[in-house]
Amino acid sequence: MSRIVVIGTGTGVGKTHAGVALVSALASARVSVAGLKPIESGVPSEPSPTTPTDASALAAFSTFHVKHPLPYALPDPVSPHLAARRLGMRIDLGRVAEWVDMHACAEVLVIETAGALLSPLGPGLANLDLVRVLRPDHLLLVASDRLGVLHDVAVTLHALRTMAADLPVPLLVLQPPAVPDASTGTNAEELVELKIVPRLVGFPRAEPTAEETRAAAKWALSALALEGQNQKA
Ligand SMILES: Nc1ncnc2c1ncn2[C@@H]1O[C@H](COP(=O)(O)OP(=O)(O)O)[C@@H](O)[C@H]1O
Ligand SMILES: [Mg+2]
Repeated sequence: MSRIVVIGTGTGVGKTHAGVALVSALASARVSVAGLKPIESGVPSEPSPTTPTDASALAAFSTFHVKHPLPYALPDPVSPHLAARRLGMRIDLGRVAEWVDMHACAEVLVIETAGALLSPLGPGLANLDLVRVLRPDHLLLVASDRLGVLHDVAVTLHALRTMAADLPVPLLVLQPPAVPDASTGTNAEELVELKIVPRLVGFPRAEPTAEETRAAAKWALSALALEGQNQKA
């Protein structure tokens, strides 16, 4: 079994989009896969047919049944730590790990984190701690191809190197924003040229199941597999 944890430089950068693309590409290759979002805020009490939650978008393309109830499907559309506090709860990473382990029979797990790498989950607790608890084989870092991305990617990778050198080095996925800015289209080359990342995968602006997105997702999956082999070597 292989675990791919999807982290981001922020919220709204395209983590779910990339996660769904990966799950759907794996499913189309007849791999048993579950796409999981253990902690999510802004989850309505009644499912909305027009705006699916991240968890339901990922589950919709999973070939492996996603277990309910989800550990933390929090109603308030604020940071998960605050949404949990408003319910008189604290996020317990052990509970998240147990729920994720219930899907261990799937060949691949794609697990999306909420927000950015250092987004808080509670006092003294951040997404980075969740990532550790999830024991990823691979990390996918998703960022938006817009102004500020050079810093955001550099800071995220710096945090990983200094605070979690034991974790796999992430593969960067660059997502095109809905509204391009003057930097959009230049950032991929600059990220490599400035040696912020050795390589990255640029996703197209398209549905996560579109042919061109699937090609990018497959490319990302093969890059992750190759990196895994290098780490073992
Ligand atoms: N490559 C893309 N092509 C088209 N739409 C995208 C792409 N990446 C992200 N989006 C859209 O941008 C919005 C935010 O993306 P999402 O994956 O929900 O971000 P996150 O999970 O990081 O919060 C969503 O409406 C999503 O469909
Ligand atoms: Mg998301």
